[in-house]
Amino acid sequence: MFLKNCWYVAAWNHELGDASLARTLLGEPVVFFRDADGAPAALEDRCSHRSAPLSNGTVEGDNIRCGYHGLLFGRDGGCREVPGQSTVPPGSAIRSYPVIEKWRWIWIWMGDPAQADEKLIPDFHWNDDPEWVSQGDRFHVGGDYRLLVDNLLDLSHVQYVHASTLGTEAVSDFPVETRRDGDLVHVDRWIMDGPPPPMFQKAAGITGEVDRWQLITWNAPSHVVIDVGCAAAGTGARQGNRDQGMTMYSNHSITPETEKSCHYFWHHARNFNLEDEDLTAFLRKATGGAFFEDVDIIERQQKSIDSAPDDFIMVDINADGGVLQASRILDRLISEETA
Ligand code: FES
Ligand SMILES: [Fe+2]
Repeated sequence: MFLKNCWYVAAWNHELGDASLARTLLGEPVVFFRDADGAPAALEDRCSHRSAPLSNGTVEGDNIRCGYHGLLFGRDGGCREVPGQSTVPPGSAIRSYPVIEKWRWIWIWMGDPAQADEKLIPDFHWNDDPEWVSQGDRFHVGGDYRLLVDNLLDLSHVQYVHASTLGTEAVSDFPVETRRDGDLVHVDRWIMDGPPPPMFQKAAGITGEVDRWQLITWNAPSHVVIDVGCAAAGTGARQGNRDQGMTMYSNHSITPETEKSCHYFWHHARNFNLEDEDLTAFLRKATGGAFFEDVDIIERQQKSIDSAPDDFIMVDINADGGVLQASRILDRLISEETA
């Protein structure tokens, strides 16, 4: 069902402070806490004694103590102490998960811990790079994480779902080019010689006709980096010259909570007017508002799928090229992993 041997975003780093944090990921209850050095730890959120959630307990130095009868667990899941007795019973250890704090996110490996390699964390450096200003959020979504991935790989929805924010009437008229690079999927769209979308006009004061790009990269299972921007029409942006333009990265990482719900982590970064806090606030509102429009349609879509008759079959359109490629790759990776 879910790809397990890969990194998922579990939380923003600011969500994990002195107290523990409970979060369901891939159907498993997980408790996060920071050890005495501030490094994140993740354990199965279920005490081995009588199954109370450890997230109800308290963090003590490098350990977490169950709030029911006081068993103490270390970050490796080992039981350190049982109140009232000098030994710990066999079988009292619980599952621990590899976790890494990187690029302002807390990453978790839900599969075989022996395969957890930090180098496999997908590149989201824009979220923590002095050359960029980045802001973002986490949305809880009542829908299958794959619906949200599909949404991000087919931006023809922009002019309908985001008509007042990101959309212009021209988007769907311009074809996408879909490419595979190993297990990466790229979906590129260039919208030549058209008006800049309202958000870009506001962000960078661009008014004349522009050449505009949406360059999407998907990385299994659910990481999507979108290089978006525009430059004055005819100044060679498509050939790589962005001198008379503006670039933003709209980045997304989606972690399944259950089969029909997910945690949507996103951040939006720009490399111009870094000191302009009003612009940061404007972009936070504009992008957060736009992505919330996606959440709304996904939740409606999930409800509709749930109530569809058994013989309902979805049809595909040309814009689904990237969606179908990514879906096939993900299906293959999951079946390889479960084989
Ligand atoms: S349930 Fe955790 S100590 Fe009893
Ligand atoms: Fe969208």
